[in-house]
Amino acid sequence: MDVRPGRVLISEEEIAARVAELGRWIRRDYAGRAPLLVSILKGAVVFTADLIRAIPPPLTLDFMGLSSYGSAPRSSGVVRLTSDLSMSIEGRDVIVVEDIIDTGRTASYLRRNLATRHPRSLALCALLDKVARREVEVQVDYVGFMIPDEFVVGYGLDHDGQYRYLRDIAVLEGGPAGGGHPGVG
Ligand code: IMP
Ligand code: MG
Repeated sequence: MDVRPGRVLISEEEIAARVAELGRWIRRDYAGRAPLLVSILKGAVVFTADLIRAIPPPLTLDFMGLSSYGSAPRSSGVVRLTSDLSMSIEGRDVIVVEDIIDTGRTASYLRRNLATRHPRSLALCALLDKVARREVEVQVDYVGFMIPDEFVVGYGLDHDGQYRYLRDIAVLEGGPAGGGHPGVG
């Protein structure tokens, strides 16, 4: 399997402009509050680093690790918690920060899991949304970009642990039958 990042789908400049916009939007909605951003490892780390600098303080940050069992071409849809939050979210205004919503299973698991911990409010912010792949309905409050059904890498998103460092978001090319979903991570 000889896959590699090809065509740029979203450039570094487009990402920066949109992240600034999301920051302004969140700032307005959370005026006078101190939201707790829950960043989902590892894919959302790059997005989170930019987003927290686009929202003025006060805000706090925590991380949660999740993995979906299964292999290519699709995950089994079984989501597992690999690393939990370091603090209580009870009574907090929580914003979950995700890299991409695909089938919606991870986001749906997150909403259910975090809701049991009694936050004051719970919102979901995703950089990318691949709506055509949705299998489970889930509310996404802030979306950076709606993208077509293509596997993308860069700006935190990986294929097999690679390409998270790319500054642009690119389509992974050269896979079998020129498309599909070479696993998730
Ligand atoms: P979902 O549970 O199917 O919505 O899967 C979401 C997770 O799958 C994301 O957090 C990513 O880790 C991974 N994923 C889905 N699509 C892509 C992609 O195009 N590139 C990289 N990772 C992806
Ligand atoms: Mg992820």
